[in-house]
Amino acid sequence: MAFPEGFLWGGAVAANQCEGAWDEDGKGVSVADICTGGSFGASKMITPVLRDDAFYPSHEAIDHYHRFREDIALLAEMGFRCFRFSMAWSRVFPNGDEAEPNEAALAHYDEVVDCCLEHGIEPLVTISHYEVPFGLTRKCQAWRSRETIGYYLNFCRALFERYRGRVRRWLTFNEINSATEPMGALLNQGMLADLENPTPFMGQPDDPQARFQGLHHMFVASARAVAMAHEVDPANQVGCMVLFAASYPLTCDPSDVLAAQRYNRVFNWFCGDVQCRGSYPTYMDAYFAERGIEIVKEPGDDEVLAAGTVDFYSLSYYMSSCQSADPTLESGPGNILGGVSNPHLAASDWGWQIDPEGLRYSLNEIWDRYGLPVMVVENGLGARDEVLPDGTVDDGYRIDYLRRHIQAMEGAIEDGVDLVGYTPWGCIDLVSASTGEMAKRYGFIYVDKHDDGTGDLSRRPKRSFWWYKNVIASNGAMLDEA
Ligand code: BG6
Repeated sequence: MAFPEGFLWGGAVAANQCEGAWDEDGKGVSVADICTGGSFGASKMITPVLRDDAFYPSHEAIDHYHRFREDIALLAEMGFRCFRFSMAWSRVFPNGDEAEPNEAALAHYDEVVDCCLEHGIEPLVTISHYEVPFGLTRKCQAWRSRETIGYYLNFCRALFERYRGRVRRWLTFNEINSATEPMGALLNQGMLADLENPTPFMGQPDDPQARFQGLHHMFVASARAVAMAHEVDPANQVGCMVLFAASYPLTCDPSDVLAAQRYNRVFNWFCGDVQCRGSYPTYMDAYFAERGIEIVKEPGDDEVLAAGTVDFYSLSYYMSSCQSADPTLESGPGNILGGVSNPHLAASDWGWQIDPEGLRYSLNEIWDRYGLPVMVVENGLGARDEVLPDGTVDDGYRIDYLRRHIQAMEGAIEDGVDLVGYTPWGCIDLVSASTGEMAKRYGFIYVDKHDDGTGDLSRRPKRSFWWYKNVIASNGAMLDEA
């Protein structure tokens, strides 16, 4: 059997996209809470001052905050062994800079963690997933400032101590490498140029110096968090989490090959290299020099990075792209990461190119480079689902997507990769991070909630629910429907 015994089958969500209850029990405002709804082709807006006439999808989301027991019971029914979720920083430290955590928030996550454990589901907690407290943005542009390292470590300590012995797997930052691109500046790093007026989420003014300096602060914070987690409980396992989007040369022209290497180094490898190997790769020197970027380090930072390497590597994987040396070729339509479309691949309705073999290729590359256990902690198909008159949701397209990616993981395991788990994204429908839509659904469980805010929030299993239940029960052997 290809998948090892104890393989962590499960699913993943993030607080800002599913919890709702955005201002309950002392929660503060996060950067996600000031984003309005948008759609493919129409950017969501960032409104630093909340408006009465705007719709904010994170405010209610799917109300998981109040319905987590029902949701986790459904995940247990599928046979989940692992549930990846995040604990909202803006719930635990409402402004980000308080001396003491918000007890109501910790008590809430006590219940969530215990509920998972009662169902035999191992929690995998993302510490920071796209919801920096907006108070830190206002105070110091969040990760642009070195002082945010201290605020983040207070948050980490509160979580490590409270959930010691109950949570053993942690991810320091979701998709840390999104900050190598302009799109990561707000959600990942809490940086926002205009603190007064509404501005579109896409096309924000970019400040690469601030983004990469901010990343340095995040690297130091992550390394110190790893050391802290081990000190609080030696059984803790801490991972990095990289948005991995393999990029191929568009042709075998050596200039295209070099273009792909340049892209992959910065986007796919840089952050993992720092977090797994414990130092900056030398290829970044040239990248920084060409752009006039200067990373300010404090004495001791290099030692902190070296001492705080991660225990395992995790990635999200949705798509791949191509790189070309020809500047006249345009970026693919929905390709938020840049790059040219691959003529051999189909795309989702949102323009993300579907490439299961690219997952096998990526897992092999990652394993060869780091030799660390690997987890695929996000993967999935964002699609428009329809509830049929008989009340069912027939998402065969999602089954097909997931089946092909699971086969690719099986191939990677046969190739020798130490793959330990798979938690597909949005195992229950939730708000899209890039567009703010509910219409872009990923779940095995349909949630009756729509982009105009309507819906009774009821949950119903889709066809993929029953399929995934069989996949888990057979430890990945039964990929065809029963
Ligand atoms: C990843 C994020 O980028 O992809 C998630 O970690 C996000 O937060 C997921 O939801 C899918 O992206 P989207 O934009 O379709 O929600």
